[in-house]
Amino acid sequence: MKTIKLIIGSTRKGRVGKPIADWLVSTAKEAGVDLQVLDLQEINLPFFDAMVPPAYMPTETEEGKAWAAQIAEAEAFVFVTPEYNRSINASLKNALDYLVAEWNDKPAAIVSYGYVDGGKSASSHLKDILGWLKVQTLERDMAVQLTQETFDEQGQFKNIDESLSSIKDDFVAAVKTLSE
Ligand SMILES: Cc1cc2nc3c(=O)[nH]c(=O)nc-3n(C[C@H](O)[C@H](O)[C@H](O)COP(=O)(O)O)c2cc1C
Repeated sequence: MKTIKLIIGSTRKGRVGKPIADWLVSTAKEAGVDLQVLDLQEINLPFFDAMVPPAYMPTETEEGKAWAAQIAEAEAFVFVTPEYNRSINASLKNALDYLVAEWNDKPAAIVSYGYVDGGKSASSHLKDILGWLKVQTLERDMAVQLTQETFDEQGQFKNIDESLSSIKDDFVAAVKTLSE
């Protein structure tokens, strides 16, 4: 089985991305596929500021080298992206910008979420970025539509199984494809 790493893009406090990622990991596990989590909040990468772009020189900071090792070890990815101002969030873009070779020639699935249209604009931007980095994204569009009704007064999912039910079959099929 391939080493698949799930990247949680959102790093803000109280993020919705974390419960969505937890649900995705347990749904994949039920289907017999293990996902390793790379949580950008925990990893806490500094803002990329190298003098030479990573296409010409690998990142030289300790944090950058640790991130490069994590991505080099992966054989496939699941990206869990929020939509901020119709695109991916800055922390995820920063994490992508750090590396080039480590991303190349690996497949990925994208799960987006948002209030407008399930984060489809973020997902489309992410596909463009990944295409440039030679990451092959699966065709399936997995967009989770959020509404005010989705959450209770504490901001927790009222019923996460119901909220993510529309992507479940596609997600299971996607992780099985990635694992082959
Ligand atoms: C800075 C910012 C910009 C946002 N822009 C969008 C947007 O363009 N489209 C959308 O559907 N939701 C937008 N939202 C709402 C997010 O979808 C919602 O806050 C979601 O919970 C963000 O994911 P997170 O909680 O994992 O960070 C935005 C939220 C923030 C904080």
